[in-house]
Amino acid sequence: MCGIVGYVGHRDCSDVLVKALTGLEYRGYDSAGIAVFENQKISVAKSKGKLKDLVDKMKVEGRPKGFAGIGHTRWATHGEPSDINSHPHSGAKVTLVHNGIIENYKELKEFLQKQGRVFLSDTDTEVAAQLLDYYYSHIKEPVKAIIETTQELKGSYALGIVFEDFPNRVFAVRRESPLIVGVGKSENFIASDVPAIIEYTKDYYLLEQDEIAILDENGVRVFDNHYQPVVKELKTADWDVDAVGKCGYPHYMIKEINEQPTAIKNTVTPRVKDGMPCLDECNINPEVLRKIKNIYIVACGSAMHSGMVGKYVIEEIARTAVTVDIASEFRYRNPIIGKGDLIIIVSQSGETADSLAAMRLAKEKGAKTLAIVNAMGSTIAREADMLIYTHAGPEISVASTKAYMVQLSVMYLFAFELAFAKGQIDEEKYKYYTAKLLETPEMVEKVIAQTTEISQKISMKLLTADSLLYIGRGLDYALSMEGSLKLKEISYIHSESYAAGELKHGTISLITKDMPVIAVATQSALYEKTVSNIKEVKARGAKVIMICQDGNDVPKDIADYVLKIPTFEEILLPMLVCVPLQLIAYYTSVQKGNDVDQPRNLAKSVTVE
Ligand code: G6P
Repeated sequence: MCGIVGYVGHRDCSDVLVKALTGLEYRGYDSAGIAVFENQKISVAKSKGKLKDLVDKMKVEGRPKGFAGIGHTRWATHGEPSDINSHPHSGAKVTLVHNGIIENYKELKEFLQKQGRVFLSDTDTEVAAQLLDYYYSHIKEPVKAIIETTQELKGSYALGIVFEDFPNRVFAVRRESPLIVGVGKSENFIASDVPAIIEYTKDYYLLEQDEIAILDENGVRVFDNHYQPVVKELKTADWDVDAVGKCGYPHYMIKEINEQPTAIKNTVTPRVKDGMPCLDECNINPEVLRKIKNIYIVACGSAMHSGMVGKYVIEEIARTAVTVDIASEFRYRNPIIGKGDLIIIVSQSGETADSLAAMRLAKEKGAKTLAIVNAMGSTIAREADMLIYTHAGPEISVASTKAYMVQLSVMYLFAFELAFAKGQIDEEKYKYYTAKLLETPEMVEKVIAQTTEISQKISMKLLTADSLLYIGRGLDYALSMEGSLKLKEISYIHSESYAAGELKHGTISLITKDMPVIAVATQSALYEKTVSNIKEVKARGAKVIMICQDGNDVPKDIADYVLKIPTFEEILLPMLVCVPLQLIAYYTSVQKGNDVDQPRNLAKSVTVE
């Protein structure tokens, strides 16, 4: 989704803005632009395409030179990706960049057109720029004009603003969409997220709903929407530039796959005391857990898939019913939830619009909310009743790997604690499961080493496929959903995950000669059943890639490739098996020459519906 940056200081502003926007590329975008104060005037450069296209354009047409300005990467919502629709957008004296959606832009546009204002683009953002310009032309005071404007705007926005009459000053305001203010030495920043500014400073303020920030090189002032000063708490990012660099890896995705053992360690180890999970710091304790009636896990994308694994694990060992829901469905279907129910919202970014709305709805209905979130201080993290942070560090690749992995690890911690609190497992079993979970970083490392080569080989066989199936039963089925999503989002090959036992009720008709089928069969209790399903697809010509445990006796001629993973505690196997599924997707995308980290049409942080 769109990324916003702003800078005031002593450095070459265009250069800082482009670098800062590079730090937000992971969000996904299709055009970029900057506005810089140049000799007291605002000079704009913008272009459809990637940042490189903007830089190339500026090489030809000249680059704005100055020390203060704003920048933007746009993920098109209103109007196609084009130079004209790219941000910044301007009125007579006001230029701004925007992340979010102005829902009432049509009414506002009509009003402004009646005032004689002319629009150049199809965007909702230009309406915000013109409206602010309209109020500013009457009020002549920037903050008051911002307050008037935001009272009219409906929807979500983070705005970075410059006023021609206030050179070398950047203004910002936000509602729903995230925005931080980076604080440096004689230089200050605004940004949608920390990776944009980490090269310059680790210190930042989180801008709250409706707060307005004014930045110049000497400092930052923040006001509420009554123009009263607000004292902010300075936060410090606990990671450094390396965390957002590729560190020698060709892509962020493969770097992040390799970071998984550390990410699990960072997430699990601090939550284990005396050999047992302890989630007290997250406001979760046995008393709270015993009161839970039903559990709903609500999320989007990979985060939702971690919930699918969570469902199987929680139901199996804690004997508590779990419903997994897609956030965009949950929020609009008047869900039957209330007091005594627990809604678990899972989100890497903590800003996903549908997940946030689902959480707010759950709270309204009197349910308790637990957020499992990676991004510190994000909106979902701040608004949930209970919170478990995952500690994956920044995830830059759009396709989630390490964030999904640590979401799984938290599902286990939670399931073990719930099962023990509800008397479903005794202390011995509780400690045994926890000890096994603590072994997973080492096991994941081993699996990365053991399965990289074969995953690479397998991916070569998928390159010409139009479509493929992932099949499995139980936990293997839950995990296959993520494997299938990973492959389709970065390789652009159509794929579905299917419950192996359900195939013959329709989907098996899709199997034709050489169609790849990735069959996951790691659960002993279901092994024979899955093997029967594999035989059924093999008999119809499928090219079978089978994933199973080291010790499994694989019948002859049922699989073209067998990828074995080390034998381990079966309930935890999804954490190991997801590694080759990630690697297969990764190498397929690499071999197809795709943009692995920024797949087409996708955004990392989906802050609009
Ligand atoms: C986008 C990302 C996915 C992610 C999903 C949910 O679609 O590309 O990788 O799983 O959003 O995001 P969240 O930040 O809520 O986990």
